[in-house]
Amino acid sequence: MKQRILKIVCIGAGYVGGPTMAVIADRCPDISVTVIDLNAARIAAWNSDALPVYEPGLAEIVRRTRGRNLRFISQTEGAAAIAQADAVFISVNTPTKTQGEGAGKASDLSYVESCARYIAEHATGPTIVIEKSTMPVRAADTIKRILSSGKNGGSFHVLSNPEFLAEGTAIRDLEKPDRVLIGGENPTAIEALAAVYRHWVPEAAILRTGLWSAELSKLAANAFLAQRVSSINAISALCEATEADVDEVAGVCGADTRIGPKFLKASIGFGGSCFKKDLLSLIYLCEFYQLSGPAAYWQGVLDINEWQKRRIAAMAAEHAKLGGGVVAILGLAFKKNTNDFRESPAIDICNQLLASGVRLRLQDERVDAKDFAAHIVDQRKVGVEFFADVAPAADGADALLILTEWDCYATIDWPALFSSCGKNPAIFDGRAIIDRRAAISAGFKVYSVGKG
Ligand code: UDX
Ligand code: ADP
Repeated sequence: MKQRILKIVCIGAGYVGGPTMAVIADRCPDISVTVIDLNAARIAAWNSDALPVYEPGLAEIVRRTRGRNLRFISQTEGAAAIAQADAVFISVNTPTKTQGEGAGKASDLSYVESCARYIAEHATGPTIVIEKSTMPVRAADTIKRILSSGKNGGSFHVLSNPEFLAEGTAIRDLEKPDRVLIGGENPTAIEALAAVYRHWVPEAAILRTGLWSAELSKLAANAFLAQRVSSINAISALCEATEADVDEVAGVCGADTRIGPKFLKASIGFGGSCFKKDLLSLIYLCEFYQLSGPAAYWQGVLDINEWQKRRIAAMAAEHAKLGGGVVAILGLAFKKNTNDFRESPAIDICNQLLASGVRLRLQDERVDAKDFAAHIVDQRKVGVEFFADVAPAADGADALLILTEWDCYATIDWPALFSSCGKNPAIFDGRAIIDRRAAISAGFKVYSVGKG
């Protein structure tokens, strides 16, 4: 086993693999980093000026590292890189299974398994194989089993090094992580990976655990975060009923250092590729181990999220139908500062609105309209139009529904917008970010989540 990692390969050039490897290359000029992906178009985009992932600060880092110690190549060219690698990160998607045992809940490990087969086939020397994607507990067993079938004489140690970055703040999270987690069995492998992170992360922030604890910690951390959002969203509905203000309640609760102020912003519900998938995976694990109480507990977190989306969509639809039945959706991304709309609340909300018979005018700062349209399953897609700017999207709208907390929505000039909207326009602020007084005095009816 090599004591030092000098050559890294990452399989998977997505929202996690791309930014993570860019920051490793930036902070470790002595390490060469190769990112490979099955998707040749994605690799071409990483090699262009139009990166496939939007993250503040990412383009600058890629510009200074690409061609220096960072390269993006397609899978077909990856075999030689694997053969020489000291460490291979697996950073591919682990979506919820759609068929077979555990369908609808368990994570689909087929992409991970195919990476393990690829590594087993091409690795030649001692290689540290690192789980970067979120995995169910004991996924490392599966990876180890596949790796041990390799015929090229490669020897392997598997580590779990889950990523805690959040989209929109990925670069900041990678450069100044609260903690880096390395789970494993072999101390030399663990220390070799820790030495990579020590290039920029303080030793005290590098946590070491067993493999299974590391795998479970990532699922648990995401479940706790999702649970906070569902908790504040459950309180938001009560605030609306009792004329309390959810931001005030969150401020008071968060001032208790045992609770803390972060992740208490009421919303239309959480989205993104992780929370729902990881909660489902956790629920599946609980059920697998016949822990029905914990399974029901985590299911409740998901249920509140669905309920919150449904009730806000229903309010907007009801109001729009009093007029011409047109809703402008402001924000499609699952949060601001990303072009990602995987599991975005906007998808379910748009589908519900279309099903209730309203027409939609969609706008977002970064999301590709055509890609998003493909995710609206309702057949009445004909009732959907896309706009690059807020004003044309709002033109003639009976309801403006803010779904993403993009900064530009917080500073909309409401008096200027009012005259172009429908007759009796309402704003449904699903992120509670606008200046309510300004919007009300401009003539709008205003609903803000969690505001009585
Ligand atoms: C999450 C975890 O934060 C990260 O550590 C993990 O690695 C991946 O999953 P991400 O999904 O990218 O990251 O974004 P996050 O900031 O966690 O937001 C998730 C969702 O919760 C978003 O839809 C966001 O709008 C929503 N949210 C978050 C709220 O509605 N209110 C909050 O207070 C915080
Ligand atoms: P994440 O948010 O976890 O990064 P993404 O879907 O953005 O997920 O990225 C995962 C990437 O992994 C995709 O670009 C996909 O093409 C790639 N991928 C999936 N399976 C394989 C594989 N077996 N070999 C190489 N790349 C893969």
